[in-house]
Amino acid sequence: MAELAINGGAPVRSEPYPEWPKGDDADVAAVTEVVRSGRWGGFPEPGPRAAEFEERFAAYQGAMHGVLMSNGTVTMEVALKALGIGWGDEVIVPALTFSATAYAPMAAGALPVFVDVTPSTWTIDPDQAEAAITPKTAALMPVHLGHQMADMDRIMDIARKHSLAVVEDCAHAHGQRWRDTGAGCIGDFGSFSHQSSKIMTAGEGGSLLTNDDRLARLAHSLIDCGRPKDEGEREYTFGANYRLGELHAALLCVAMDRFPSQQESRAEAGGRFERLLRDVPGVRVLEHDDRITRWSFYRYVLAIDPDAFAGHTNQAVCDALEAEGVGAWTGYEPMSNYDLFQPSLSRLPVAVEHAARLDPARMSFPVAEAAGLRESVYVDENVFRAGDLGVDQAVEAIAKIQRNAAELPGG
Ligand SMILES: Cc1ncc(COP(=O)(O)O)c(C=O)c1O
Repeated sequence: MAELAINGGAPVRSEPYPEWPKGDDADVAAVTEVVRSGRWGGFPEPGPRAAEFEERFAAYQGAMHGVLMSNGTVTMEVALKALGIGWGDEVIVPALTFSATAYAPMAAGALPVFVDVTPSTWTIDPDQAEAAITPKTAALMPVHLGHQMADMDRIMDIARKHSLAVVEDCAHAHGQRWRDTGAGCIGDFGSFSHQSSKIMTAGEGGSLLTNDDRLARLAHSLIDCGRPKDEGEREYTFGANYRLGELHAALLCVAMDRFPSQQESRAEAGGRFERLLRDVPGVRVLEHDDRITRWSFYRYVLAIDPDAFAGHTNQAVCDALEAEGVGAWTGYEPMSNYDLFQPSLSRLPVAVEHAARLDPARMSFPVAEAAGLRESVYVDENVFRAGDLGVDQAVEAIAKIQRNAAELPGG
């Protein structure tokens, strides 16, 4: 008789995990207030609720300035443009991330140059980032992936040594702290997403954080059709309309009220999950870096050893986990697999100068490829809002699949 739920066995968890996003009367009241106020849009920029959120979120992470805009993709494009990065520049990006990280340099007119990630954290490999620097390199874009943070000590050392800008992609890292400094407050800019699946959400939205007054003004201008933001200043920047409306901003203010206690309970549940996971055969727990001094995460990322799962890879394990009642996803594909970076589709100007660096056929990222195509399992965030039982069931589901791996379909 089949054991695994994917083959008709009893699932480990039959009750659904909690929904996300989850609104209540506070969201309804916040939106109602905006509707009644008649001030719906983001112009003049920033609107009152946007300004409130910018200030509160920046203070929570520990930055001087927050700039709220329409999503966590244009945030990175705006950051690069504010830093003066564009045509002819190269920007170093990890080979394992969402396409948005690499799209941003292209949208700013620069070229993304991919480097592999480290096997212990699946975040950008600082040695490879340094080796990829050329006279055209203008910035490094570390990504704090899943529940991890990139090695910001090394990244900042390299950036200082080579006079490079740093834009942190913190789409997964609201609340994280590195040596007691908030994610997004270490480099020149930190970029956050408020899209529905993210842990501080209004359905859509994105924030940039910075400690630099001038960069903050430039970012405000770039998202507001280039309008000058200095008192008495008349010069426009090359901006577009990336403002976020007040309805979304109001929802973010409510999300901000809730966030600190959500962060605490999620970190506690994550700790329990990680402790239990260490005893599951065939699973590798990524390095838990003690320099992460406040833990807050989007999804928990673990590595499976396909040999210990009868040769099955992450996709089979995620499908089986879903059937057991635990949401899971294989994570990002390596950048060498993304259509966006196939020169014929993206029309990247790679033909001459950059062909060797940007032709996916010539790219090789063994660690990102092993992670994305075989090993990585992203456990859904809602597991960490379902009490000890929810966490224990998720661990049991992984262990059950490993014990019965010979039963997995598709072998
Ligand atoms: C790592 C990463 N960077 C950037 C983004 C882009 O954010 P958005 O969807 O708000 O544009 C996302 C998520 O969607 C992401 O996961």
